[in-house]
Amino acid sequence: MKKIMIVFGTRPEAVKMSPLILELKERRGIEVFVCLSGQHTDMTRSVLKEFGIDADIDLCIMKNGQTLFDITEAVLKSVGEVLKKNSPNVVLVHGDTTTAFATALSAYYCNIPVGHVEAGLRSGNIYEPFPEEFNRKAISLIAKYNFAPTINAIQMLKAEGVRDESLFLVGNTVVDAVKYSMNAKFTSPLLDLASNKACVFLTAHRRENLGAAMREMLMGVREAVDEISDLYVIYPVHPNPLVRSVAYEILGGHSRIILTEPLGVRETHNLIAKSRFIVTDSGGIQEEAVSLNKRVLVMRRVTERPEGIEAGFIKLVGTDREAVCLEICKAYSADFGSSQEVILNQKYNPFGDGNASKKIADVLEQKIV
Ligand code: UD1
Ligand code: UDP
Repeated sequence: MKKIMIVFGTRPEAVKMSPLILELKERRGIEVFVCLSGQHTDMTRSVLKEFGIDADIDLCIMKNGQTLFDITEAVLKSVGEVLKKNSPNVVLVHGDTTTAFATALSAYYCNIPVGHVEAGLRSGNIYEPFPEEFNRKAISLIAKYNFAPTINAIQMLKAEGVRDESLFLVGNTVVDAVKYSMNAKFTSPLLDLASNKACVFLTAHRRENLGAAMREMLMGVREAVDEISDLYVIYPVHPNPLVRSVAYEILGGHSRIILTEPLGVRETHNLIAKSRFIVTDSGGIQEEAVSLNKRVLVMRRVTERPEGIEAGFIKLVGTDREAVCLEICKAYSADFGSSQEVILNQKYNPFGDGNASKKIADVLEQKIV
């Protein structure tokens, strides 16, 4: 029996690892051990519940006001203990969170091979997104198996000297997750609203946007909603107190701006599908929106997902108040242009075909010893 340990701690990792966990559990000869760092608690657990997955261990490291120092230290030590006790054949981490980075470092210290899911994303700027760009680059130094979502990601890894035999082009498991969500019929009051009105789905939480940039961009959103009299905004607010306080101060009390607690992942995917377009600084939502044929205004200066720009779905608008307002107004009145038509007709998704989990499981079945 080959033992695969999967470690993660935040919502986006849970969304993108869940389809892979389900797939690996189907494979004979593989034992799957799911370890939650607990970097985030409720948001991660709620995703696992929707996918019907039970974690084998939850290290519950989250504390109020946690810093990058706190998370890194807690994950490095506590995951290290779990690794030593369980001695898996391989450890899988996802993307670029502090849990993923510290787990990879822990595994390296324990001399256990690391598989990196969603390897090779690069913005080219180590401070944007911060500290994710560093985290993913550091994991690439350690990983034995790099599961890259796109050809661009493969090229990024090659340019950094990652050897060909450790590279596997598999697509992004987020497309598998979107397929999972959209397969089941789902209804909710917010979905009814998005089905009947012109709605924008909004999220904003990035660490490098906290403070002045967050205020600016949310004021830009409010101005746009004031300008467009039939536009609604649905914004599930990230629980980070530094996000919540600004979100409620700037967007609270508006009759067409709905601020909610974080939503379940199936409701989120369905809302993206029903929205007119998306405004976000999230990473994963860029891929989900493209997978659901939606335009995305990205409130960042750089993106590590150029495939979405090339496909004509993603537009970088920065965090400037006037720019955010202007771009929302333009997107609201836009005829969505020819690039989207082309993609729809060819049924082509630059982020994958929804079979990434299968491809990763195939590689692991063949390669791990
Ligand atoms: C982390 C990831 C980011 C991902 C995001 C998803 C890193 C470096 N960043 O960012 O890539 O997009 O998760 O959500 O790992 N907090 C709460 N309640 C919660 C979650 C967080 O109060 O449920 C607070 C924390 O205590 C902390 C702050 O929010 O004070 C930030 O949390 P942290 O885990 O450091 O990073 P995120 O900004 O959430
Ligand atoms: N998401 C969710 N509920 C919400 C908001 C987002 O389930 O209220 C999901 C979303 O569909 C995506 C993931 O959370 O799969 C993105 O997480 P986030 O934006 O926090 O992190 P990032 O992708 O930027 O790292």
